[in-house]
Amino acid sequence: MSLLESQKRVLSGMRPTGHLHLGHYHGVLKNWVRLQHEYECMFFVADWHALTTHYDDPEVIEDNVWTMVIDWLAAGVNPGSASLFIQSKVPEHAELHLLLSMITPLSWLERVPSYKDQQTKLNEKDLSTYGFLGYPLLQSADILIYKAGLVPVGADQVPHVEMTREVARRFNHIFGRDSGFVELAEVAIKKLGRKSSKMYRELRKEFLEKGNQESLEKAQAMLQEQQNISLGDRDRLFGYLEGGGKVILPEPQALLTEASVMPGLDGGKMSKSYGNFISMREDEDSIVKKIKTMTTDPARVRRTDPGDPEKCPVFKLHEIYSDQAQKAWVVEGCKSAGIGCLDCKKPIIDAIIDEQKPMRERARQYEENPDLVKSIVAEGCEKARSVARTTLEEVRQAMGLNYR
Ligand code: TRP
Ligand code: SF4
Repeated sequence: MSLLESQKRVLSGMRPTGHLHLGHYHGVLKNWVRLQHEYECMFFVADWHALTTHYDDPEVIEDNVWTMVIDWLAAGVNPGSASLFIQSKVPEHAELHLLLSMITPLSWLERVPSYKDQQTKLNEKDLSTYGFLGYPLLQSADILIYKAGLVPVGADQVPHVEMTREVARRFNHIFGRDSGFVELAEVAIKKLGRKSSKMYRELRKEFLEKGNQESLEKAQAMLQEQQNISLGDRDRLFGYLEGGGKVILPEPQALLTEASVMPGLDGGKMSKSYGNFISMREDEDSIVKKIKTMTTDPARVRRTDPGDPEKCPVFKLHEIYSDQAQKAWVVEGCKSAGIGCLDCKKPIIDAIIDEQKPMRERARQYEENPDLVKSIVAEGCEKARSVARTTLEEVRQAMGLNYR
């Protein structure tokens, strides 16, 4: 696969540290399900990343790997459109991580915000480990090994994608200029044929001298259409076009996932660690109970006290689950004490139960047949490995490790 095509590849991972809840569903998984129709998608269980913080309770990881994959499938991630796999089953990630570590300055890792943040937040754990410092670089390896163009992540992960771009740039700069790069590029230009070579040179000049973005894109599209050049030459010409060396590892882009507005049962952010969540496959009685006891506007002590939806976490759920008319009914009824909080919660309970019904059904089919899940993941791993191996070959070659 050539560079521009792989730029349409989407890659994302999730750490298996607990059951997925409504926050994950609305914040992340719905997005994955949407993306799988538009792009080639690869989604993986980041079990090594989980180990960086949970090294002392690995059972958590083991328990959650398969349930998490089932949660993905339950949400509608389709193994026919997306490859699902487990990071540690694709050991190529580790080799690329090691190789990238040779050129990654310590200061880049130390200045990633999550490094200090997490150390402070999880202060009962010793996170002054080598593995934890390397967390973002392992993530870079996850992304670059597939030459992924798009990485859907939340805002907290954007600095990791930024660092990945820097690592890729540095890699290409150091290793993309094999000896005689310019000569080889010139030979490759000639192979394009008279008309195309002329066009390539003109567009390259336009871009390098005047920064004309349109010329760059035109030239890239032209290269993309060339049938009769080798992949190596194509990558070389892509790199030469921009004045650099060969682009071995293309820079990915973060695809920012909108912050989830899912409130927890106590009005805080829904999170496993606060125990204020409804999981993606919660049983019906428990959904009813949790919503019935959910925090409301504290001003509504009695049924006759008027309330303010703006101060009520239940109303945030209406923002997600209700249409305009229903929201208007809530606002009116709450402010005038015309409806009680249980009346207000009823449609939410129904909506969540309805939303989860198909998920529970899909999940049941997989839970009853664990082998099916394992074979989906095995197939995903195989696909992932074959892409990963090809990239590693190129990387080894570029780094002078291609002796046999
Ligand atoms: N660090 C990510 C998180 O905590 C998980 C992750 C690991 C990831 N590798 C990745 C996400 C590669 C995107 C791409 O959410
Ligand atoms: Fe909240 Fe609804 Fe009760 Fe108003 S009526 S306080 S919006 S639960």
